[in-house]
This record gives sequence, C-alpha cells and structure tokens, in this order.
Amino acid sequence: MSARSESSWEKVPRLPAGHFVSGLVYTDPDVYQDEIDNIFSKAWRFACHESELPEPFDYRLVDHAGQSLICIRGEDDEVRTFLNVCSHRGGKLLTEPSGNARLITCFYHRWTYDSLGACTGIPRPSGYSKEVAKDSMGLRGLRTAVKHGLVFIALDEGAPDLDTFIGLALDQFSEMLGTTLLEVFHYNRAVLDCNWKAWHETNMDLYHEFMHAVLRQTQVGAMPMEDRRLITFENGHGGSGGDLKAAYDGYKSFAGRGGDVPPLPGTDPTDFRFVDLFPSTAIIARGTVVRIDTATPLGPDKTLLEMRGLGVKGESQEHRQARQRHHNQYWGPFGRNVPEDMIAAEACADSFRNQAGRYQIIARDENLTGQDDAILRAFYKEWGDRTGRDPGNPIDPATA
Ligand code: FES
Ligand SMILES: [Fe+2]
Repeated sequence: MSARSESSWEKVPRLPAGHFVSGLVYTDPDVYQDEIDNIFSKAWRFACHESELPEPFDYRLVDHAGQSLICIRGEDDEVRTFLNVCSHRGGKLLTEPSGNARLITCFYHRWTYDSLGACTGIPRPSGYSKEVAKDSMGLRGLRTAVKHGLVFIALDEGAPDLDTFIGLALDQFSEMLGTTLLEVFHYNRAVLDCNWKAWHETNMDLYHEFMHAVLRQTQVGAMPMEDRRLITFENGHGGSGGDLKAAYDGYKSFAGRGGDVPPLPGTDPTDFRFVDLFPSTAIIARGTVVRIDTATPLGPDKTLLEMRGLGVKGESQEHRQARQRHHNQYWGPFGRNVPEDMIAAEACADSFRNQAGRYQIIARDENLTGQDDAILRAFYKEWGDRTGRDPGNPIDPATA
C-alpha cells in the first residue's frame, strides 16, 4: 500500500487518547470561544517584564482575551492592571501602546483616573445622583502579580494564586531571572495567520529541531538524546529538566559565543533551557540571553506574537552588543529560528483551515528524554480539562 484512501485519511488514529489532536481545535469558532472563556479569561498569563515599566506612571497596553488592558506602575511603585475602559460610557481610555500617564483622561467626557485606578475627576458632578460619584467610579482592576520580574495578570478573581498556578515550572529560571536585574532590550511583534496553539506548539515540540538548519548544527548532536531530560509540570506547563547543551561552535557565524559576554546568573554559555507556560508563553534561555515569546489569540486563525529579548540591566555597551548579537542569531527578525517556526505554524494552519489535514500526531514517547512529545500531551491534557472538550474529537458532545 502506498498513498492512503479518503477513509484511511479521515479515520481517527489508532493511538491512545491524548496522543493525537483533531485539526478542528485550530479552526472551529465554538472551540475558539471556549478557549477565550475558559482558558484566557481564567488562567494567569504573562503580560510584560517589570523593566518595561521602569518609572511611576509608565504603562503598557496588553491585548488579552479580546480585551485591552492597561498595565501601569503606580505612584507607589506597584504594578497594577486595569481594563482600558472608562467607567462612564465605556470609552477606550489609552490608545498609545506604551507611555507615561500621570493622569488617565478619557477623551469623551473628560473623566479622569489615577495610577491606582481611582476616579479623580467627573466634570459637573452635581448633575448626578450620589450613585455616580468619584468614590464608586474607579477602573476595573485585575489581579496582577510579579514573579522573578515577570508581570502576570488574571481576569478571573477566583483563579488560584500565581504561585499555585506556576508551581515548580519557573524553578530553573529563578536564579537567572530573579537574582540580577534584567531588562528588555529587544521587542517586536508580528501577526501570524494561524491559530495560537499552532505557534505555541513550535515551542513545545523538540522533534522539529531537524527543520532548523542552525539546530541541526548546534543542538541535535550536542549531547546524547537519552541524556536530555524533559519535564512536565502541573497545570499544563512543561520544559527542560536541567540544562540541555548546545554546541554553538558547530555553526560558523556563531563561533565565539560565551567568550565575549558573561553568561546569565547560574548558567553556562552552552546551556539551553526552556519552559512553556500554559497557555501561551515560552521562556527560552541560551546561556547569555533570555527570550520571552507570548502568543495572543486574535481569532481562530489570527495570532499576535510578542517577542522579547532580555539582558543584564546596566551592563556595558560592549556586553550588550554581544548579547544582542547572540539574541539576533537565533531570534532577531532576521535570525534563523523564528521565521522558520512562523512558516511551520502557518503551513499547518493552511492544511487545517479547510480540513485537508485531519489530525496531528503527538505520540512520540521517549520517557521524557530526547524529543518526547510529553510536553505537548501535558498541554492538551490541561486544554481538555479547561475547555471540557476532547482534543482528539473536540466538537462531538458525546466525548465532552
Ligand atoms: S466615556 Fe469616558 S468620560 Fe464619558
Ligand atoms: Fe522552532
């Protein structure tokens, strides 16, 4: 037998549950709405790095679960998050993606708010009953927590606290991120024509190392596959379980990495660590530099991707340039890895958009070593628990 027939192609894979995913998880509008309601509106999610709000009143706008949020450092130095919505008639308050706002003034009828979210001014207040007064007209505040410099937000006031949600997933990054002040030196964003999960899968899938020319040279043979340790955590997170190694000298223009800038705290320049935080943030460290990628769903097949590179705050220009170079070799807009991952995510989206592709197979089992698909399976287990849908058959209510 060579090519497969229609019935063979469309048949449910003969694999254990959790080892395959229906293409409908990427395209079905009801599934997508369930994700917004039960995942993005419920779970903690990375918003930005503290260094992006260095001074009081500095803010950034954050797209999250179809809403615009204001993440702002208050006059008391605390970072808070609010819906970017005026209490009066719902005017969108801030429109610049970032800036400094001592006072947040709504353009429509000039109500004002301070950095703590309090309403500080209502023009001609005597026209209102006492129900509409400054004291009761503050902004809608969201839960905001900072861990190792990472700012997380949650729309759901009933969600377990951030430490419970993260569990042990950030332990391997605590020294790197939490003992030296870091700062974002690189930020760019792109909109991809694919579902948010198709992007995040490129972070969880080690098997696609073969796709990246640079990883074929620097990573595939850098250490025995059976010595690699991967780990899955509670709540759908997964990552490297200890340092994986990369052989940067294997790629000609990468030679010299590690000699021109100190590694980040607690790491060796040849270390490669990563953690994929549920639902859609990947933190990747390559000895000298940290990268944070976050995917935000804009629609079933539209995804905003935000990409940040971090170095040591206050380091010399020479060290910063070296770190930028190391960052850009992998991840810069013209680096080797990210454009290739984008092509992969959009290629799969093309197939699933019209149901030409039916299933994704995530069945590699290498006992949490090598290129095991266990991180993907842990992600989809959490996805299924939160949406109440079977990833292998997401629109048949009999299996929900
Ligand atoms: S909608 Fe904001 S002041 Fe009226
Ligand atoms: Fe990749």
